[in-house]
Amino acid sequence: MDKNAIYPGTFDPLTNGHLDIIKRSLKIFDKITVLLALNTQKKTLFTLEERINQIKNVLISENIQDKVIVDCFDGLLVNYCRENDINIIIRGLRPLVDFEYEFEMAMANRELNHNIETIFILTDQNYFYLRSSLIKDVIKLGGDISNKIPPSIKDEVIKKIKTF
Ligand code: COA
Repeated sequence: MDKNAIYPGTFDPLTNGHLDIIKRSLKIFDKITVLLALNTQKKTLFTLEERINQIKNVLISENIQDKVIVDCFDGLLVNYCRENDINIIIRGLRPLVDFEYEFEMAMANRELNHNIETIFILTDQNYFYLRSSLIKDVIKLGGDISNKIPPSIKDEVIKKIKTF
């Protein structure tokens, strides 16, 4: 039987940091579901549909589209896991910033569904300070951050920011 896991996030937009976690997760799991989940604290630059298309296009360019499902859900993550028979959640862990928040979220998810385990993959050193909002800010202010974001998504960020 395939070993499946879920990689949830807002992905507004997907960065090379996220992509690195996806590729490294595929060394452990046969299939990954990248789940665009709702973070009630966030207002996104891109619509759900735009983010799904962006991610699918990047997966195709990386030739890993057959091993990665892209889906979205606006309820509790644990419910999506239950409905889709997945019990492993993958999270990228960046030094300093993530531990407390990730610890709380993993505990809460396990409290909500005892079958769930969260596994953490240490973010690559090239991406450890990255976050999607930082990328959007740098692009907005004209900085070059090409090595941190897939080129197709960078173009879309530039286009979107211009229309605002
Ligand atoms: N490389 C680069 N950036 C990374 C990264 C990596 N490896 N990992 C995370 N980031 C960035 C993200 O882009 C994001 O940037 P932003 O805040 O500027 O948008 C930031 O770090 C935080 O990422 P993350 O912790 O993944 O937050 P998120 O909002 O993307 O995801 C959910 C949080 C969606 C997984 C969570 O809210 C959730 O599970 N929601 C579903 C509802 C639910 O079940 N809630 C109860 C949870 S206990």
